[in-house]
Amino acid sequence: MSTHLEVAKQIAKEAGVLLEKRVTSEFHVEHKNNVFDLVTEMDRASEDLIKKQIKHHFPDHQIIGEEGVAEGTDKFEDWFDRIADIPFAWIVDPIDGTTNYVNGLHSYTISIALISFGEIHVGVIYNPSLDEMFWAEKGKGAFLNGNQIQVDPTEKLNESVISTGFPTDIDKARKYVLNGISQLGIVARNIRVFGSAALHCAYVAAGKLNAYWEVGINVWDVAAGVLIVKEASGNVVDTLGNPYQLSTRNLICSNGKIEEELITHLKQANGTGF
Ligand code: IPD
Ligand code: CA
Ligand code: CA
Ligand code: CA
Repeated sequence: MSTHLEVAKQIAKEAGVLLEKRVTSEFHVEHKNNVFDLVTEMDRASEDLIKKQIKHHFPDHQIIGEEGVAEGTDKFEDWFDRIADIPFAWIVDPIDGTTNYVNGLHSYTISIALISFGEIHVGVIYNPSLDEMFWAEKGKGAFLNGNQIQVDPTEKLNESVISTGFPTDIDKARKYVLNGISQLGIVARNIRVFGSAALHCAYVAAGKLNAYWEVGINVWDVAAGVLIVKEASGNVVDTLGNPYQLSTRNLICSNGKIEEELITHLKQANGTGF
């Protein structure tokens, strides 16, 4: 196990301890882009802890977090364009599933990925409430608490439990998802929504879910999850079937075998655009 992976796991756990301490306490909730888009002081505290720890271990590495907690470094947009040239860039979602966290629901995660010259090398997703640590290193398989994981081999949508998320962009992204649900809800065995994109990816990798799709996601939501799914023999594409890139916003991750059926149904529900 590389030092990068070990440090990422250790930091994710530390953030989890911090978050679990406050999970039932009162804390201030703010709105970001609209009233559905939440951030709390705990998102910032978690990001601050993670960034400080990464800086401590790897002072030369770039770090970006969803909440942009002061770092004195470049803005995300400034360096994401040249990510293919950066030797080590960490991408952090300090709480994936803030709505769950605010409501005291258990499905929230910490997601940390290390990108090297544009490729995801390490991915760690920690679910503190259940003490589930998912991780992968490029070329070395995917693991849940030390046990290797694999996607489920199901080939049929009517034998698949699939998942999605409800984006905070109500006008476009959430409507796309709802149209998809109205179509897929009658052809898949069932649909689950756990409220954390990273957790959905991790559950696909572990064979607990057969697929996850969502539109309008950000790189910090899924970078770790994409690697974990791929290392568990799954596949990740955009909703039109193109291979995943770090700039992909509309995502399907699955065992690969039900991917085509999913794309067909999503196109029927929404057309090709989003
Ligand atoms: C959100 C969660 C949610 C998904 C949203 C994400 P956040 O992340 O992953 O499941 O549906 O699209 O933005 O804001 O809780 O980190
Ligand atoms: Ca957010
Ligand atoms: Ca997120
Ligand atoms: Ca977040």
